Amino acid sequence: MKKKKIAVLTGAGISAESGVKTFRDANGLWEGHDVEQVATPYGFEKDPELVLNFYNKLRRQLKEVEPNPAHRLLAELEKDYEVVVITQNVDDLHERAGSHHIIHLHGELLKMRSVDDSYTLYDCKEDIKVGDMSPTGVQLRPHIVWFGEDVPMIGKAAEEVESADIVVIIGTSLQVYPAAGLMNCAKEGTPIYYVDPRPSIDSKNNITVIKDVASRGVAKAIELIKELK
Ligand code: APR
Repeated sequence: MKKKKIAVLTGAGISAESGVKTFRDANGLWEGHDVEQVATPYGFEKDPELVLNFYNKLRRQLKEVEPNPAHRLLAELEKDYEVVVITQNVDDLHERAGSHHIIHLHGELLKMRSVDDSYTLYDCKEDIKVGDMSPTGVQLRPHIVWFGEDVPMIGKAAEEVESADIVVIIGTSLQVYPAAGLMNCAKEGTPIYYVDPRPSIDSKNNITVIKDVASRGVAKAIELIKELK
């Protein structure tokens, strides 16, 4: 029998229990850093060293964190369902938990590219410094989608949500577009489960809000999904 397809949309909240800070909670990443400064092409132009160091620090922090039960439950779900994870996160915790089908909407800390080519990606395990050049002789930058930049994977992500039988949303404030609009790509009536301790929408019609942290909330969502006909 063909497996049902689940599209899972994740945000910073799924990595919170791993010790990765979210963006918009009180102790979020932006503290001490203006978004304009560290997450826009303009900020990079103005002070590339500051921006590179900001992401270098985040990349180093990745080595100190591990996937949590929520990441692992999603990976295990692949036994019974076709699962595609569409994440706004730039960490690699879904990969390390064992998920196989992952779309990174906002880029990846472990990849880099030259400033003039957003499509040719290189692995990036160490710090990037001003003066580090691509094989084509152009300054390297992190493969992160900054505010004001295109989100190249959005079309593919929208197709995945549209063709899903079930949608699960975990740990996102649903503030940043176009990612926040993806849930609207689901076919009418598709069951949608939204796990977040401070959810930004209420339960209604086909949307079930599970007000809880990711580890417990994802377990609850999976129980409900297993009850679906
Ligand atoms: N479990 C689940 N959710 C949690 C947890 C937790 N333990 N702790 C916090 N959250 C929730 C918060 O309630 C909030 O709704 O995670 C959400 C985090 O929201 P944001 O910090 O806004 O993160 P996100 O929605 O992923 O941000 C989207 O904004 O800054 C840009 O590009 C960046 O990808 C990011 C995008």
